[in-house]
Amino acid sequence: MKKDLQAIQPDRPNIITTEIEAISFYRKMDTKATVAEMIAGKYVLVEEFYSNGLQVLAELKRNLLLKHKDKSFQGQRDYRAAFREASHRLLLKVKDNKLIVKKSPDTGWLELLYPDVSEFYVSFPEVQGMNSSWQWYEKGIEVKTLNLTLHPYYGTYFPTRFDHLKLFDKWLKKYEGSKENAIEIGVGSGVLSFQLIQNGFKNIFATDTNKNAIIGVSEENKRLGFEDKITLNHGDLFENCDVKADVIVFNPPWLPAKHQLEEGIDKAMYYEDELFPRFFEQAKEHLAPNGKIVLIFSNLAKVVDEENTHPIIEELRNNNRFRKELHLKRDVRASSRRTKRRDSRDTEKVELWVLAPKEKK
Ligand SMILES: C[S@@+](CC[C@H](N)C(=O)[O-])C[C@H]1O[C@@H](n2cnc3c(N)ncnc32)[C@H](O)[C@@H]1O
Repeated sequence: MKKDLQAIQPDRPNIITTEIEAISFYRKMDTKATVAEMIAGKYVLVEEFYSNGLQVLAELKRNLLLKHKDKSFQGQRDYRAAFREASHRLLLKVKDNKLIVKKSPDTGWLELLYPDVSEFYVSFPEVQGMNSSWQWYEKGIEVKTLNLTLHPYYGTYFPTRFDHLKLFDKWLKKYEGSKENAIEIGVGSGVLSFQLIQNGFKNIFATDTNKNAIIGVSEENKRLGFEDKITLNHGDLFENCDVKADVIVFNPPWLPAKHQLEEGIDKAMYYEDELFPRFFEQAKEHLAPNGKIVLIFSNLAKVVDEENTHPIIEELRNNNRFRKELHLKRDVRASSRRTKRRDSRDTEKVELWVLAPKEKK
């Protein structure tokens, strides 16, 4: 049975609701000494201007870089971990769901994500994350392929490059099979499901492990009038799904995880070893006769490390479940003209794979 969407509570940054012992930071104070205390484990509360928090973080960065000179992958990882840990001890106070420091940005998430509590402390980096997310949510992201603007919810993956959407659009325009039922695994901000609808698909079962994605697409469905076309579900892969689909689409994470995955955005970028084998096993059970699996992928993992395997090629090679029907590729363009291409991007390609089940002999 599908879980009631109303009952899903969004993931949100941790907050402190009790009184805390913290050093109050004012702009004329000794930033170096304050940062040393922060590294030693003390909380610091920004009292005056929002920019004073930026000042403390800049000093924290300078301080830690003096100690973390090792430029190797592991060295940089250690530096980032140290920064993350200490920077989360820099706090801001929220009252009536607003930051109380002067000249602070307006972050609507403080109200929307915390309807149950109006006064609390939250870390400065979490506020920065909410600010940036709020700007995308308010302003929206124009997706030309869809001819509409997306408003991604806090903590949800959304596209900033659109090559994979163009590939999917190309395939959808040529698709001549049944458009009765589709399943989208990993709906994210909803883009691919919206493309399916715009190309005539009637019923879509869309699912994600990220609660915020489900809440966000539910809002988008109301705004765009897609409520009766998209059934949303919070769950892992095909959990709660009893549909047999003409098309199953999945734009999975593109990089193998070398760390313990956290809920949320982390699972949009990185995949655990078992994700693809589990996906293919379950997908087979959810395809209608003549159904197709459409996977959007990339050679990014190979570009980053030649040793990485390609999970779709592995599936085709090792299991006798599916045959390749189509494999389209497209160069990835830099996100903007101002963005300097890194060398690896030059060889990066997005891929669209269409697989069909092998007939039993
Ligand atoms: C790369 S994002 C793609 C989002 C969106 N479909 C798009 O194309 O922009 C991958 C999505 O898959 C979701 N995801 C990862 N593992 C999943 C799983 N086991 N079951 C369902 N969704 C999953 C992530 O939370 C994320 O929203």
